[in-house]
Amino acid sequence: MNDSSHADAPATDAAPGAAAWDPLGELSRSAYCGDLRPENAGQTVTLLGWVHGRRDLGSLLFVDLRDRAGLCQVVFNQELAPEAHQKASHVRSEYVIAVRGEVVRRAADTVNPAIATGEIEVLAREVFVLNGARTPPFPLEGEGPLAEDARLKYRFVDLRRPRMQANLRLRHEVAFAIRRYFADRGFLDVETPFLTRSTPEGARDYLVPSRVQPGSFYALPQSPQLFKQILMIGGCDRYFQIVRCFRDEDLRADRQPEFTQIDVEMSFPREETIYDLVEGMLAAAFTAAGERVATPFPRMSWDQAMVLYGSDKPDLRLPPMLDARGFFAPADLAQLKLDPALPLFAIRIPQVGVLSRRERDELRPLAEGRRARFFEDFARIAKAFPQAAAQITSAFAAQGGGEGDLVVLVGAPAPAGEPAYSAMDLAAEAGAFRLALGQRFAERHRLLDPRDFRFLWVTSFPMFEWDAGERRWAAAHHPFTSPREEDWPRLESAPGEVKARAYDVVLNGTELGSGSIRIHHPELQSRIFALLGMDEEEARRRFGFFLEALRYGAPPHGGIALGLDRLVMILAGESSIREVIPFPKTARAVDLMVEAPSPVSAAQLRELGIRPL
Ligand code: AMO
Repeated sequence: MNDSSHADAPATDAAPGAAAWDPLGELSRSAYCGDLRPENAGQTVTLLGWVHGRRDLGSLLFVDLRDRAGLCQVVFNQELAPEAHQKASHVRSEYVIAVRGEVVRRAADTVNPAIATGEIEVLAREVFVLNGARTPPFPLEGEGPLAEDARLKYRFVDLRRPRMQANLRLRHEVAFAIRRYFADRGFLDVETPFLTRSTPEGARDYLVPSRVQPGSFYALPQSPQLFKQILMIGGCDRYFQIVRCFRDEDLRADRQPEFTQIDVEMSFPREETIYDLVEGMLAAAFTAAGERVATPFPRMSWDQAMVLYGSDKPDLRLPPMLDARGFFAPADLAQLKLDPALPLFAIRIPQVGVLSRRERDELRPLAEGRRARFFEDFARIAKAFPQAAAQITSAFAAQGGGEGDLVVLVGAPAPAGEPAYSAMDLAAEAGAFRLALGQRFAERHRLLDPRDFRFLWVTSFPMFEWDAGERRWAAAHHPFTSPREEDWPRLESAPGEVKARAYDVVLNGTELGSGSIRIHHPELQSRIFALLGMDEEEARRRFGFFLEALRYGAPPHGGIALGLDRLVMILAGESSIREVIPFPKTARAVDLMVEAPSPVSAAQLRELGIRPL
């Protein structure tokens, strides 16, 4: 901060006089406010914290003092300690004070069961007012909706709210348990560079210009993927890192431009080795958060996940879909104007019951903008096609379905000259509708319980995806993922059918982590680059160092990376990772507190060899 901005700094509102602040001096905390219990009665304590609230009853003044551990009530009694009472009468919300006093039990009729320290209070003897505070921009109490922009701009105040304190602590506990878990199993915590080259993880890079090499740029890592593989080639054997990654991509509730991965790699693993390792790690993380996880997690191939859930990250808290096409005669499908060549998905949402007309109308917007045909009125279908409906009902009954369930059918419109609708597109639309329905009725029918942790491994992903825009194959995971050995001969002839040794760990519909067994033969790696449309020259230019490393005795290796932010978000019961990241960015990738990104001076740009816009 320069001198002029210092001079401009506004004085604290409602300050009791400029030089009124007490020095910290020898004051030292003897207990956290939030930790005091009846057992502490009789002790003299020194508390340091913020004024959460105060009630002035004349000769008695009550201050709720707050610190990281919680709140406790401090009583200033004019008769007992007149000087302290007088001083305390000047404090306001969020002032920083020290209190010396005695812990006493409260009288039975003044016990406050709503707070953990509600059975005691502190009788103040002395108070030290260490600093003043402006009126907070929003109340720190209660969980009412607050404008997120204000929370992010005044994050220093927002972080004081108990919910944020709990989230910070939870994140610490979880990360610490994970570090201990890996260290106990011989994994080395190794740091990898932030100023590096681009690694293809499918997003745009954040670039950092080089001053000493004008016109050249570093890329901030989208992940440490190649470094961790090189650590395996370098004989490290077992690596982990809780590491920041940077991706310039469209942001959502579970995406930030910088986020944290639990990054892992090991030599000589099979898929099962990684599954066991990660299940143990998640069990340790959940234990640290006071939750339990049942292991092993179920596994499901990507093909199955798409057919049963219409998603590569199925939420198992809702039942799978079924293909009801076979229950209808071809003439029925024609009558319903459905494409007989594609599945007819039946979705079941438990306990919702038959919908009223109004409820059905309300569902319509959920289906809007989708090409599939939706049939929300199962009773009508049952009347028109009793046999098919009976078969659907009995197939669902075999899954545990019953009378009170809502059944919705989703099919593809009969083709009318338009390009055919693919089975995958239809599955994805049906899957999205299934989730939207679940969410629509979640509260009323206690569906999608956030404390019901349903993990799943999704395995055998396709190796390649067709990029219609670029008219070439793209890596579905990343180009260092190994195809299944039995698919090597048909890599070039049938890339669309090749399956990868890739896996995702999914929790309640969120992709928590993603990994693979890697390619360790340079020849195979070159073939994959070629298939992805990279000629030798480009492969050498972008990944020459890595191809070179593979030629010096690369061990078979594999690994995974999990999103720490997403994991903590779910454990905290939050619906956005911004709630568990201390200093997150907005959906437009802005840090509202420090105001980044920001323009820089022309001189700075010149130094970097960049012409101002
Ligand atoms: P992937 O790109 O799938 O894999 O990322 C792994 C996990 O990181 C989390 N994640 C994110 N979290 C918040 N904001 C984001 N923008 C974001 N992007 C990803 C997700 C995701 O599952 N190198 C490979 C891993 C490997 O193969 O070992 C990789 O980065 O939880």
